[in-house]
Amino acid sequence: MNFVLYRKYRPKTFREIVGQEHIVKTLTNAIALGKVSHAYLFSGPRGTGKTTIARLLAKALNCQGRKEDECEPCNQCQSCKEIDRGVSIDLVEIDAASNRGIDEIRELKERVKFRPLKSKYKIFIIDESHQLTKEAANALLKTLEEPPSNTVFILATTEIQKMIPTIISRCQTFSFRRLMVPEISKKLEDILNSEKIKFDKEALDLIALSARGSIRDAESLLDEVVSFSAKNDIIKVETIQQLLGITDKSIILKFIEMIGKKQAKDAVEYLNELILKGIDPIELVKSLIQYLREILMLKINKNPASDSLFSILPQETVKSLNILAKQFTEAQIEEMIEKLISAQDKMKFASIVQLPLELAIIEFCKK
Ligand SMILES: Nc1ncnc2c1ncn2[C@@H]1O[C@H](COP(=O)(O)OP(=O)(O)OP(=O)(O)O)[C@@H](O)[C@H]1O
Ligand SMILES: [Mg+2]
Ligand SMILES: [Zn+2]
Repeated sequence: MNFVLYRKYRPKTFREIVGQEHIVKTLTNAIALGKVSHAYLFSGPRGTGKTTIARLLAKALNCQGRKEDECEPCNQCQSCKEIDRGVSIDLVEIDAASNRGIDEIRELKERVKFRPLKSKYKIFIIDESHQLTKEAANALLKTLEEPPSNTVFILATTEIQKMIPTIISRCQTFSFRRLMVPEISKKLEDILNSEKIKFDKEALDLIALSARGSIRDAESLLDEVVSFSAKNDIIKVETIQQLLGITDKSIILKFIEMIGKKQAKDAVEYLNELILKGIDPIELVKSLIQYLREILMLKINKNPASDSLFSILPQETVKSLNILAKQFTEAQIEEMIEKLISAQDKMKFASIVQLPLELAIIEFCKK
């Protein structure tokens, strides 16, 4: 099977957008009330819906089938179909990463002068807008200051801090957020159900977690998994772990627990058992450091629920981490992390790869 999930499952209505609630609400209200701004700025991390929502807004504004007080595009009329196929003459999409100069903006300004040809609005989506050169940005600013009627600009960027403030202040700005694990996981679940592919829920959580808030990244990873699975295969945690080169969460947690209880002998034995099973000690130490860091964060954070790191982790993982956090003092975790980092360095050159890790564990447990 071969298909590009993130294109196939790009939302065609505002209703299908995951998260970004206040953005969807504000925009759909504006559309239904006919009160759209002439310039928007969508900022936020990659793969969170900026281009998708920009196109939806364009579609809704120029839709011929939409009733005036509704907000969703009909996806049936000629305008909607042309936008989907990327051939609408009243929607201009510019990638500022490759068209960043003054000439391109001059050309853009020429195009701005013309009224929309077939539709109500002429819409410009400028992606990666932080990449515009200074001259180009200033030229664009002039246009934003005196926008022709029936023109809507939608600027998108992953790096708003690189944009000139005068442009930002001319636009209605929306900050897109990273999506949380359950949100991403749910969308992956819907996709697999429509594709009639079986899966373990935990496998999807793992994909979602590794995507760090980007739905596109999660969908791309799922694409990879699906394309190398055989027909009728079930998508399993082990497959994803292999693909990502990560070690099972329960292994790491058990390991940390042994260290916390100062069971040096058990921990070293367990380590060697794992290595015999094929686990890469370098990956293992990396995961250990990651989890200890999260435990440390839990310890120093009085209100972990509000911390973005924990809001993207599955509930039960946070619960296990909390239990482990009680076994250690802050100073102990810091010491353990430092020991592991120096072991990690030494492992790259060690003739017995796991030896520096074993020594670190033994030394820590002595205290
Ligand atoms: N909020 C969301 N709800 C549902 N699907 C989403 C969402 N965000 C992203 N996606 C999925 O990811 C794909 C890519 O999203 P999109 O192109 O909108 O990301 P972006 O924010 O523009 O990223 P970039 O900064 O890399 O351009 C979409 O086709 C869709 O399948
Ligand atoms: Mg984009
Ligand atoms: Zn339509």
